[in-house]
This record gives sequence, C-alpha cells and structure tokens, in this order.
Amino acid sequence: MKTIHIILFGVGNVGETLINQINKAKTQLNKQGIEVKIILAANSKVALFNDKGISNQWKTNFSNSAKPYTIDAILNFVNHRKWDNLIAIDATASVEFVQKYTYLIQNGFHLISANKVANTLDYEFYDRLRSTLKKYNKTFLYETNVGAGLPVIETVKNLYESGERINKIRGVFSGSLSYIFNTFSEDKIAFSEVLKKAAELGLTEPDARDDLSGKDVARKLLILARELNLNKEFNDVKVVSLVPKALNGKTTLNEFKNRIQELDKPLQELKQKLSKKTVLRYVGELDVTNETLDVKLISEDQESAIGQLKGADSVFEIYSESYNDSPLVIKGAGAGKEVTARGLFSDIIKLSSRL
Ligand SMILES: NC(=O)c1ccc[n+]([C@@H]2O[C@H](COP(=O)([O-])OP(=O)(O)OC[C@H]3O[C@@H](n4cnc5c(N)ncnc54)[C@H](OP(=O)(O)O)[C@@H]3O)[C@@H](O)[C@H]2O)c1
Repeated sequence: MKTIHIILFGVGNVGETLINQINKAKTQLNKQGIEVKIILAANSKVALFNDKGISNQWKTNFSNSAKPYTIDAILNFVNHRKWDNLIAIDATASVEFVQKYTYLIQNGFHLISANKVANTLDYEFYDRLRSTLKKYNKTFLYETNVGAGLPVIETVKNLYESGERINKIRGVFSGSLSYIFNTFSEDKIAFSEVLKKAAELGLTEPDARDDLSGKDVARKLLILARELNLNKEFNDVKVVSLVPKALNGKTTLNEFKNRIQELDKPLQELKQKLSKKTVLRYVGELDVTNETLDVKLISEDQESAIGQLKGADSVFEIYSESYNDSPLVIKGAGAGKEVTARGLFSDIIKLSSRL
C-alpha cells in the first residue's frame, strides 16, 4: 500500500468538500493500492494535526482541537515522523500563502493548488517557482485553476508538449458570466434582474463587480498563455470590463447595488443590435500566433459550441494544427465546490502515480 500524506490549507467550500470526498473514497483507493491521509487541515489561523489522518468527524475536532500554527511547526511534525510522499494542497485564495510555496518545496513537499495566485503573479515569480520545483525534483499540479474539474490544463499541456502547434484558445471561462449571458440572451429580462438571480443562486461573488470586471477570466487566460510558454503578464490581457466607469471600485458595494439598473440600458441596446441567430457571450480569447489575450463581450453564432452554452457551464475551444476547422471542445460545469474538489482529488491521484 502506498501512503500519501496530505497537508491541506483552506477548509472553506473546496477544502471541506475535498476532505469529505477523500474519506468517502477510502475503500476504492485501498483497492487501487493507495491510502490518502490528510495529516493536517488548516485555515488562516488554526490547524488540526492528526497522525492517523483526518476522519469524518473532523469538523467537530477542528472546532475543539485546532491550534494556532506556523509552517515550521508543521515541518517539525512531519519530519519527526519521517513520512514520505508529501503533498501540500492550497485550497485558499491567499496571496500570502503562496509565498510559502518555495519553503514547502525545499522541505520535501509536492504542491497541488486550486488557488490561481501563484500562476498569475509576475512572470519572474512564475519562472522562479518552476526552477525551484526542478531543483528539488518536485511536482506542481493546478488543473482546477482553469475550468475547475474540466481537463483543460492537462489537454493544452499534452498537445503542446507533443509538438502540436496551438493557434487559438477561446471560450467562456466563467460559470457566473456564462449563466448571466446565457439567461440574458434567451429570456426577456433586464440585465440587473439576471444579476440578482445569479446572486441568489450563489453564482456571483459577494460583490458582482469581481465577476463583471473580467479579471477572473483574464487570470485564467494568462494561465493558459503561460502553459504555451508565452512570457505574458496580467497587464498584457486586454479586458473589456462590464462595470461602467461610474460604478467602479470607487463606489461602495451598497451604492453599486442601488444603481445596478444603470447597466440595463447599454446591455439591452447591445442585445437589440444582435443579428438573427446570434447571442451575447463574454469570452476569453488567446491568439497564440499574434500573442494577444482578450477578454470581451461578443456576439456569437448560436449554433457554435460557445453559442449553445447552457446554465453556468464553461466551454473551451482549442484550435491547433490537427484541430483546425473543427476545434477540440471541452465543455461542462466549470465551477462549484464539488467539481473543484474532484479536480484536486484527480491531481492527487495523478501525482501519487508518479511517486
Ligand atoms: N469554488 C469554486 O467553484 C472554485 C473553482 C475553481 C477554483 N477555486 C479556487 O479554490 C480556492 C478556494 O475556494 P473556496 O470557495 O473554497 O474559498 P473559501 O470558501 O473562501 O475558503 C478559503 C479557505 O482558505 C483559508 N485561508 C485563507 N487564507 C489562508 C492562509 N493564509 N493560510 C491558510 N488558510 C487560509 C480560509 O480560512 P479563514 O476562514 O481563516 O480565512 C478558508 O478556510 C480559491 O482560490 C478559488 O479561487 C474555486
């Protein structure tokens, strides 16, 4: 039996779901000759340590027994037990935690992350992280950074590394913006009403401007560009934000909510201008040949993969040498705690097969 030792940072939506999925899959994993032990689960303040692996009752134990921690205390705990097959999982959205990656790698940990920060900081950081991984012979997997559980990064990487020339990647990368424009295009409904519905369904961030600004889509586009070895920075992404200048970050969230109807008229006008059989979609587009990265609102043929999108699904079209006229399409739920945790779990299994 191969035992994998996990230290998990972030026990929010995704982290908690991951613990539950791992515990539920115990028998199945054992049949595959793998034992996955979560020996530590931490939030930003406290951590729960457990030699035997965190059980189904972990939440009660976490409330009762989790203690303030330092990374060095965690390393002492692990080193003392001489464990191997060590994986640190980042299920936070923390900029601060990413600064600890190097130290964890130097101390024997492989990394798996749902957090996009490490892959979207400046290129120097990105490059330095990869050099450190190489030096210490460690692996960093982050499939969930783009499209949650959908196999987007792996597909792009495999094509690229097998010498396939990728010309273009385009798609709807955001579950919330997918829902917003799929609904707005189909139903006779004001844009502000769609936003309210999306918020009620828990699809948007607490401040919907975080979705509407296009920044999250831009981050995913940057990650894909870097997979193709393009030395790009976040500022290289041309983003057409859906937040009117008058309602940007300088106005409070309350004021934005009170004035949300101001978005209705311009978007209704765009909808009326659409030619027949086209729909509005908010897309990310990477033109590899011209090295351009765009995040924008477009009118799209309703018969295309992007045009046919439903619900809060994401879709990625990859155009390459072999997939030229008919792109390789990856489509499905691209957000949500269940699919994201499952994506992290798949990364654990993928990594453990290499250990
Ligand atoms: N939800 C999705 O659909 C989805 C899809 C793809 C990727 N992701 C990514 O997955 C990550 C987690 O998302 P989530 O929805 O689970 O977030 P969440 O519910 O807000 O949970 C975040 C967790 O991270 C912890 N945390 C924050 N800073 C930390 C630090 N410095 N050290 C240790 N723990 C820290 C928080 O602890 P405190 O409570 O103490 O702050 C909390 O337990 C994010 O990066 C997100 O972008 C999510």
